[in-house]
Amino acid sequence: MHVIGGSASTSLAERISRELGNAPFAIPFTKRFPDGEMYVRVGGRLEGEDIVIVQSTRTDQDLVELFLLEDAVKEAGAMRVFVVVPYFGYARQDRRFFPGEPVSARTFCRHVELDADGVVTVDLHSPQTLKNFTKPAYEASGIPAIARLLRERPVDVLVSPDRGGTDRARRMAQLLDKPWFALEKKRIDSEHVELTLPDSLPTRIEGKHIIVVDDVISTGGTIVEAAKLLKRHQVGAISAACTHGLFLRDAFERIKAVTDEVFSTDTLGNPAEKASVAPDIAQLLLRAASA
Ligand code: R5P
Repeated sequence: MHVIGGSASTSLAERISRELGNAPFAIPFTKRFPDGEMYVRVGGRLEGEDIVIVQSTRTDQDLVELFLLEDAVKEAGAMRVFVVVPYFGYARQDRRFFPGEPVSARTFCRHVELDADGVVTVDLHSPQTLKNFTKPAYEASGIPAIARLLRERPVDVLVSPDRGGTDRARRMAQLLDKPWFALEKKRIDSEHVELTLPDSLPTRIEGKHIIVVDDVISTGGTIVEAAKLLKRHQVGAISAACTHGLFLRDAFERIKAVTDEVFSTDTLGNPAEKASVAPDIAQLLLRAASA
């Protein structure tokens, strides 16, 4: 396998190539034309090879770069193309909420797989999004990577900030052999949420080290409210952990101000990137290649 690191995922791509037994790794040449259009060129001998392209799609430009890279490696004679999208943008619009809207997640699944023989992604917003792919598609979880890191830290209780994250908190709790519970979340608007404790808790939380686990930290509103709520109940320490750290605007600083530590995986570059999903992705790539 040859690994190509798109500009949104260069470091993670290099880690994945190491996990694949030091597979050849390359960073494509990219530039912009005067009108803003993107140009990419992939180097190396790719003819007859299995190629892995790693590119998160946080921005529209990342998507354009991914589509160009897929075409470029096909043109260069790649035998099979595996596309790794560690953070799959547009996944939150996974259904039509109001008439006239697109199902954005579905349309980008179709476009991403067009020139691919397989797709690997990490913690999609909703698991059913994977069903939009017609080619073999695999979803890694960020939970084992965060759990590997938390094994070296004090942890008493895992908390999901909403019921939607129940499976994540439960899985992390199982890996660490700790209790867990989910908060009740009411979304006020895209930046504000109201959180409350559930009616009954599985354990005392006073003085305990709580880890709030989420899939995405975006504006930071959810984690900040969760930390404030838990502090009102005299917990000992609070850490925030997520798979995808978007940390929009001043989100990272706002979260740091109300927590003791912030952890994220490396699906996106950010200041809290402390756990790597590279081993988990590499494992799925080997499975995809042998399928
Ligand atoms: C919601 O369904 C997600 O799991 C996250 O809780 C949410 O996307 C976090 O967003 P924010 O950081 O803007 O509160």
